[in-house]
Amino acid sequence: MFGQILLLSLSIGYIQLATSKPSVDQWIAALEQSNSTLLQYPTQLTQNIVPKAIHSHNDYWRDVPLLSALSFGVASVEADVWLLNGTLFVGHEEAALTPHRTFDSLYIQPLLHVLNAQNPKNEFTVNQTTPNGVFDTSSSTSLHLLVDIKTNGTEALPFILKALQPLRSAGYLTTSTSGNVTKSAVTVIGTGNSPLDGVKALEPRDYFFDGPLISLNDTSTNTTWDASLAPIASTDYGVAVGWAGITGISDAQRSTILTLVNDAHTRGIQARFWDTPGWPVGARDAVWRELLDDGADWLNADDLEAAAKF
Ligand SMILES: *[C@@H]1O[C@H](CO)[C@@H](O)[C@H](O)[C@H]1NC(C)=O
Ligand SMILES: *[C@@H]1O[C@H](CO)[C@@H](O)[C@H](O)[C@H]1NC(C)=O
Ligand SMILES: *[C@@H]1O[C@H](CO)[C@@H](O)[C@H](O)[C@H]1NC(C)=O
Ligand SMILES: *[C@@H]1O[C@H](CO)[C@@H](O)[C@H](O)[C@H]1NC(C)=O
Ligand SMILES: *[C@@H]1O[C@H](CO)[C@@H](O)[C@H](O)[C@H]1NC(C)=O
Ligand SMILES: *[C@@H]1O[C@H](CO)[C@@H](O)[C@H](O)[C@H]1NC(C)=O
Ligand SMILES: *[C@@H]1O[C@H](CO)[C@@H](O)[C@H](O)[C@H]1NC(C)=O
Repeated sequence: MFGQILLLSLSIGYIQLATSKPSVDQWIAALEQSNSTLLQYPTQLTQNIVPKAIHSHNDYWRDVPLLSALSFGVASVEADVWLLNGTLFVGHEEAALTPHRTFDSLYIQPLLHVLNAQNPKNEFTVNQTTPNGVFDTSSSTSLHLLVDIKTNGTEALPFILKALQPLRSAGYLTTSTSGNVTKSAVTVIGTGNSPLDGVKALEPRDYFFDGPLISLNDTSTNTTWDASLAPIASTDYGVAVGWAGITGISDAQRSTILTLVNDAHTRGIQARFWDTPGWPVGARDAVWRELLDDGADWLNADDLEAAAKF
């Protein structure tokens, strides 16, 4: 029955296949060559990719920024952004900038493309109120886009907010209104020179802040850290913890990790440690294992393939 339907749908291969009693393999090959509508899966761009809590450090160094990370299921990417002559360029340092590598061309337009593909508009989706995220296997996973402002943050912020407009108007951005967070496909989080006062002043807010993981308790900053301002909080692993992953971790070092993770989690904030050791591989993995066991939410990775297999 199933076979007959498939065969009838093959206008070209039908006679040949029907007379020669094809194997299942031949049948599959014929169908694949036929461009049959039966095989057109609408949201196949990220089909079979399972999202993982990995942060793609210096994402724009990869052969293909953003998309390489997505292909490994990496759910957090970071772009270093420079405002020069009114344009937002992406690169680690000024020598690495080119006129073609902009925040719009490397991040906004590809994201729009992926998300439009994941959100077909048709009679089956008319009642859907929350857009799908970038990952087909986990459509409610929100991609974290960290924007590390390298130039003056106060000056760059309005340009970044404007650059986000295509994602905003499509409803793809996580927002907070009066402290209530509505998750969507992409959560944009400012780091680097992102201005805390400027981010706090946004209402509604769709540009969040990467909180200071080691000083969430500090009241002198006059800031109430919660997930509507800072969905994540981060710190330099080497400075805060320092365990190299080679000898055993001390009780004090483990206690530091646990305390920082707890300080974040009691506020509904996710914890991230950056600059974890990358080498030797055994030490890198030992640190990743310890952090995950202690409740850290994001693995910071330069080697996405290794982290994705971890
Ligand atoms: C396959 O069919 C779709 C629509 O049915 C069309 O958009 C696409 O161009 C076709 N691809 C090929 C390779 O013929
Ligand atoms: C910025 O503008 C000035 C004056 O128009 C020009 O000389 C310079 O090359 C521009 N720099 C960049 C990075 O586009
Ligand atoms: C969408 O909602 C309308 C009105 O409730 C309903 O008639 C229709 O069947 C729904 N469509 C889908 C795909 O759920
Ligand atoms: C950033 O720009 C603002 C507005 O132009 C200015 O007031 C501020 O001093 C600048 N900050 C730095 C660190 O240069
Ligand atoms: C935010 O949530 C609180 C508590 O649930 C509710 O009282 C308030 O009306 C909400 N505000 C908005 C703008 O939705
Ligand atoms: C923050 O405050 C909590 C509760 O008082 C405390 O347990 C924790 O140790 C503090 N965190 C740091 C980093 O001092
Ligand atoms: C703390 O923040 C509030 C609200 O943003 C502001 O009114 C107040 O002046 C600030 N206080 C200090 C000491 O910065």
